[in-house]
Amino acid sequence: MSALKTILKATAATVIVSASAAYAEDVEVLHWWTSGGEAAALNVLKQDLEGQGIGWQDMPVAGGGGEQAMTVLRARVTAGNAPTAVQMLGFDILDWGNEGALADLNAVAADQGWDAVVPDALKSFAKVDGKWVSAPVNVHSTNWVWANKSVLDANGIAPPQTWEEFEAALATLKEAGVTPIAHGGQAWQDATVFDAVAMSAGGPDFYKSAFIDLDAEALGSDTMVEAFRRMEVIRANVDENFSGRDWNLATAMVINGEAGFQMMGDWAKGEFLNAGKVPGEDFLCFRFPGTQSQVTFNADQFAMFDQGGVVSDQQAALASAILSPSFQSAFNVVKGSVPARTDVSDEAFDACGKQGMKDLAAAASSGNLFGSMAHGHANPAAVKNAMYDVITAHFNGEYDAATAAEELATAVEIAQ
Ligand code: BGC
Repeated sequence: MSALKTILKATAATVIVSASAAYAEDVEVLHWWTSGGEAAALNVLKQDLEGQGIGWQDMPVAGGGGEQAMTVLRARVTAGNAPTAVQMLGFDILDWGNEGALADLNAVAADQGWDAVVPDALKSFAKVDGKWVSAPVNVHSTNWVWANKSVLDANGIAPPQTWEEFEAALATLKEAGVTPIAHGGQAWQDATVFDAVAMSAGGPDFYKSAFIDLDAEALGSDTMVEAFRRMEVIRANVDENFSGRDWNLATAMVINGEAGFQMMGDWAKGEFLNAGKVPGEDFLCFRFPGTQSQVTFNADQFAMFDQGGVVSDQQAALASAILSPSFQSAFNVVKGSVPARTDVSDEAFDACGKQGMKDLAAAASSGNLFGSMAHGHANPAAVKNAMYDVITAHFNGEYDAATAAEELATAVEIAQ
């Protein structure tokens, strides 16, 4: 029996006893949206619900990628006190759904016609055995670069299109005494960069074989060695205080002109906007060099925990607010992501948002849309965490590139 099953079994009685708490007027929402830009986006949702007379009990757990949030969630479920709704990514949703812990949202979904408007790539993480168990909020993607426009202009740098051009730009910035790359040395951030670097080094077939199919040969291949070698180039271009830095503080370095580039998912755009910056004028967004036709995506969803067999009115209201077209536009404009529905106009979105929507549609139709390894959309948590460990250990100099590729193949084999 899995640890999760044991927890659920041991606490089933308490879960039922505490169910009445969920029928209070409030929704309690566990999430990791704690940066300035994220909080601004979350406010759009809070206000929407408050407008319907539903109060909001905030349960924020800092930590990009949501690892800490998932640890807190497990503790809450163990204590028989699951939150009403939980921000969740990809395989984590499927895990909880398969354990039978999530509420059946089919009635709300049918009412709003989710099946017709939510893209298949998201549906495969939102439905378990034909049952909708979570409400998709957005689509983010990880293979973006964010740049300070004046820093690039001052150094005669155009957005690099290839890895070689990127390396040259890094060298120019270093020479000019500017930190080339703003980075936060946390495992999930190292892995976020690796999503794009591996895609760029090996292309879409390689990314799929290594991260989605978990093919041992691809994991230990020369191409993987090259991906790790490129991570060493990145490591050589971050400042000396990178270790442990939060991602939004790294974004602030680009906003303030202390650094040229940040490689980060498009939640970084929320920080630029929150600081009053304008795309194309103050900052630039472009796909990581060599990944222009690909999108490595992750979608935030709110999974509703089963509160005794019925979806509460508050859960239904939250789910339906999330999927409404007006919310999908208003929220994602602020968050940096793009809508989780295919029928929302791009009119309200800035240039980066418009590009994000176009890229997503193009990647989906050309077979170039892949789940992000770093953000729980390529493989289950055990495998993801095993990959994190190797990527981070290598980034911090514990392994050379060849050893890292070998370790990655071994770690993934053990984790499965
Ligand atoms: C989430 C984003 C969030 C980011 C940083 C990602 O895993 O999908 O919504 O902004 O982490 O916290």
